[in-house]
Amino acid sequence: MTSADPNGAPKQIRFNAFDMNCVAHQSSGLWRHPQDRSSTYNTLEYWTELAKLLERGTFDGIFIADVLGTYDVYGSSNVAAIRNGAQVPVNDPLMLVSAMALVTEHLGFGVTAGTAYEHPYPFARRLTTLDHLTKGRVGWNVVTGYLPSAARNMGHDDQLEHDDRYDHADEYLEVLYKLWEGSWEDDAVVKDRESGVFTDPAKVHDIQHQGKHFSVPGIHISEPSPQRTPVIYQAGASSRGIAFAAGNAEAIFIAGPSKEVLKSTVGKIRDALEAAGRPRDSAKIYALLTIITDETSEKAQAKYQDYLSYTSAEGALTFMSGWMGVDLSKYELDEPVGNVKSNAIQSVLSNLEHEKELGREWTVGDLAREGAIGGLGPYVVGSGEEIADLLQEWVAETDIDGFNLAYAITPGTFEDVVEHVIPILRERGVYPTSYAEGTLREKLHGRGDRLPAEHKGAGYRWGAANSTAQA
Ligand SMILES: Cc1cc2nc3c(=O)[nH]c(=O)nc-3n(C[C@H](O)[C@H](O)[C@H](O)COP(=O)(O)O)c2cc1C
Repeated sequence: MTSADPNGAPKQIRFNAFDMNCVAHQSSGLWRHPQDRSSTYNTLEYWTELAKLLERGTFDGIFIADVLGTYDVYGSSNVAAIRNGAQVPVNDPLMLVSAMALVTEHLGFGVTAGTAYEHPYPFARRLTTLDHLTKGRVGWNVVTGYLPSAARNMGHDDQLEHDDRYDHADEYLEVLYKLWEGSWEDDAVVKDRESGVFTDPAKVHDIQHQGKHFSVPGIHISEPSPQRTPVIYQAGASSRGIAFAAGNAEAIFIAGPSKEVLKSTVGKIRDALEAAGRPRDSAKIYALLTIITDETSEKAQAKYQDYLSYTSAEGALTFMSGWMGVDLSKYELDEPVGNVKSNAIQSVLSNLEHEKELGREWTVGDLAREGAIGGLGPYVVGSGEEIADLLQEWVAETDIDGFNLAYAITPGTFEDVVEHVIPILRERGVYPTSYAEGTLREKLHGRGDRLPAEHKGAGYRWGAANSTAQA
């Protein structure tokens, strides 16, 4: 792959916004900043204003993260997480979507929900409902979970082992594809006033799913929505995570500390997509990044110093311990992060190992400092021009499609990007000035509202090879 199209035009850049229904999502301590509004996360005003701002900036979507447990790996306790507001308290992400959809026309919604604890049957209906209400603008970020505390509160001793969680997720998706794609034929709903038939029963099918984890004999209880299956997002880059993404994902969020790490991850993902019989560009890949910008370089640097004064090292290490599955309170700050085996997010550790191979060994202190703004992803500081140069360089050198932008403060960080960076990218012809029409899937890939024929989910359609639906 190259960064330019065959006519030599520079590659386009796309943005997603990364947020969560909590305070200071990935920027620990910054909820205290006088301009940060993240502590109003529990109001519709915060979310609807943000959605309108992002649509002004032609963002592809807002990606809302979620967890169902507390970060209690650091110090073997959840006290530091609770004290710092580190993703606790956290509210439900799905509930935010309808309000944001009402005040926007094009913005996509990538909502996170885990496969580990909720039965796929009610979940299928919740997502179908949102796809109807958003007129086909909903995406689902499929996560398998990484917090043992979530497992315990769901009545399990611990979470499944890392790769087993993905096997479980494979069956979870199979059930959903059967419900979303295979249960109702396109012309099942007839709304015939003369005969009094709302739906033709001959065109609604039992999915007859009988598997290792789930048994779902009946029909989907919602009628087909514009996209049927919501756009599938994924964010896990271990080998098992990439194999899962290759079969399912249409948008992938990755996090890496450097261009070299990102380039290597992108190459692996595109190879895996091809090996799964899908085009190499059939998933949009967004790299996590936080942008701190202003009119001039000096002002941006001053802003960065101001933000730094509000960060919480304890909060950052609480997050990092949860993501790595390693209690970092037991290490000195100058200790190298070594090769620790993780049952949490394996790609976090392998990224750091990759950095070590490149001669850049991270210490626990580096994690505390670098992780305090924008969490797992790097941050960059500069004027709009400087940031635009850098984004173009990253896209050209790593073959990503765009960036998943975390915030230092919200909505300030997104306002700064819309004001200082996007106009320059637009001037350079590398950033959209308007949205394509249609559903989120059509906007992202331009190949229609429904899953493309080569996608695994399409194989479960009524009459298709993998369909188990029966009349
Ligand atoms: C950018 C990014 C965002 C993620 N967001 C979430 C999230 O909101 N909730 C969650 O449970 N896991 C989240 N994860 C974790 C992964 O989705 C994944 O399920 C799991 O941690 C295993 O990852 P691995 O395949 O890299 O080991 C995120 C990971 C990345 C890189």
